[in-house]
Amino acid sequence: MKSLSPQIKNTINQKLSSYSSFPFPVEKINSRQSWAANRLWMENQQMISKRNGKKSRYHWYCFSFMVNTFQRMLRLTDFYEKGVQNAKNIVLREIPIYLPNLPQAFQDFSILHLSDLHLEGIPDLTNRILSVIDNRRVDLCVLTGDYRSALHGSIAPTLHSLKTLIDGIHSHHGFLGVLGNHDDCHMVNPMEEIGIRMLINENCWIHKFNERLQVIGTDDVSMYYTDQALHALEKAHEDCTIALVHSPELYDIAAQMGVDLYLCGHTHAGQICLPGGKAIVNGGLKNGSQYYRGAWKYQHMQGFTSSGVGTSGIPIRFNTRGEVLILRLRQGSPTFY
Ligand SMILES: [Fe+2]
Repeated sequence: MKSLSPQIKNTINQKLSSYSSFPFPVEKINSRQSWAANRLWMENQQMISKRNGKKSRYHWYCFSFMVNTFQRMLRLTDFYEKGVQNAKNIVLREIPIYLPNLPQAFQDFSILHLSDLHLEGIPDLTNRILSVIDNRRVDLCVLTGDYRSALHGSIAPTLHSLKTLIDGIHSHHGFLGVLGNHDDCHMVNPMEEIGIRMLINENCWIHKFNERLQVIGTDDVSMYYTDQALHALEKAHEDCTIALVHSPELYDIAAQMGVDLYLCGHTHAGQICLPGGKAIVNGGLKNGSQYYRGAWKYQHMQGFTSSGVGTSGIPIRFNTRGEVLILRLRQGSPTFY
């Protein structure tokens, strides 16, 4: 068992005593009821809650107007169709991840990582993903949020596409998911009904022979931060632990808590980038912006920020590709940094 330093314990205790800014009491022992009450309140108030305690209103209709106007202008150029074709051209990447304390039973454990599906954004995206996966069998499938394109409206089309996708994937230990900033709190129960175990500031274990791997999932912290996310990570020191967080923004706390591997997305690797892949916009990250794409390492912790499968806003990509990841866990020291 890894040890939790006194400073970290103090940080946790201080954080857990500072819930006064939410209308419903947040329980120290995680509760879906208190989480749902606050998430729903933030969604209805169009409230953005940041890790630094800042709260602001999200004027999504202004944002939508600007995006739609830009899209209409772009459609008049040859760039638009080229960008759409780029966005449809998703790729499968197989990446080894070396973890020093990986239990022996999990050697070569394969994790299919899907992020930022935005399923309605690209026509026929579900079948495109299944075609790229090509019936490969994996040990576990994890989904790190942003299942739909819109921020509001019916969740039914997204759930329908998601079920088709899940039904086409062979995952021995099933499916684990977390919410993104495009997802609404009413999606949790229907997603569990179609077979995705949602981790809402919760943890679970994957057991193999007599060993286990812990997975902790938090709610989105880019728009809907509560300290329950931090509290969930407190359990990371107990086992070899993978954290599923929609964005990289908790990287430093997760490392302090003892997370071994941090999987996230949200940034789309910039989606529209300069030649060479330099992002023009990196998902609006205040914290962790240096980790907006690919593999990274912070202190002892390794992380991977997926460029996502789908697109946000305008369905185009330049100098980035949508990706489906298969991560293969291996015992050993990291070698690819
Ligand atoms: Fe996102």
